[in-house]
Amino acid sequence: MIGRPRVHHRLTDSTNERAKELAAAGAPHGTLVTAGEQSAGRGRQGRVWTAPPGKALLMSVVLRDLGPGHELVPLAAAVAVCEACEAVAPSVGCAIKWPNDVWIDRRKAAGILVEGRPQQGWMVLGIGLNVATGAEEFPEELHETATSLAAAGATASVDDVLAALLPALHRRVGGDPDLVLGAWRARDALLGERVSWDGGDGTAQGVTDSGDLVVDTDSGQVELSAGEVHLRR
Ligand code: BTN
Repeated sequence: MIGRPRVHHRLTDSTNERAKELAAAGAPHGTLVTAGEQSAGRGRQGRVWTAPPGKALLMSVVLRDLGPGHELVPLAAAVAVCEACEAVAPSVGCAIKWPNDVWIDRRKAAGILVEGRPQQGWMVLGIGLNVATGAEEFPEELHETATSLAAAGATASVDDVLAALLPALHRRVGGDPDLVLGAWRARDALLGERVSWDGGDGTAQGVTDSGDLVVDTDSGQVELSAGEVHLRR
């Protein structure tokens, strides 16, 4: 089961760091680290992840021995976050921007950072979800692009979302790859959209069975396996 044992920190630098320490020391599959506040939260691509104390779900899970299914963990986690948000806030609809940003109303509500030591048989799945953050609490530069469940009109608490998310993660992470891919594709925010990245641009055409993004460009079709794509708004 994902969520046990659980360690909660009122304040820590990064739940991913704590979870990686626990994993390296042998913590079992499913070990959960949560925090009320992070002093050095990390995002993908070397970015920082910030959230006002107590208003976001900040969590990391130790995952072990997922075998070949491990390549779909980031996508599976994004599906689970969408399902949990919609379970606690039925008026909210979530979409996923490749590979694993969760969007509400085309703004980012949650991000996922997977780090791992596959050779030692473990990975850490970090999730940051803006739950109760008011629209005015986001830093100026994120006003147009970030959102939260509260900003989308939902009144769920961090604990409500966590309670919905743990069983959703249990179902999706390491679950049937076809079901994960089907659920991900049904929420694909980039499908048919113009996108650009370092080195090219084109029209997004969905994901391969290993989760790579397929893009039609002027010079043919490419598959992107990592990195960042931007929606051309
Ligand atoms: C991203 O979209 O850039 C990924 C953001 C991941 C943030 C979460 S918050 C909990 C966990 N601890 C971290 O330092 N990062 C992840």
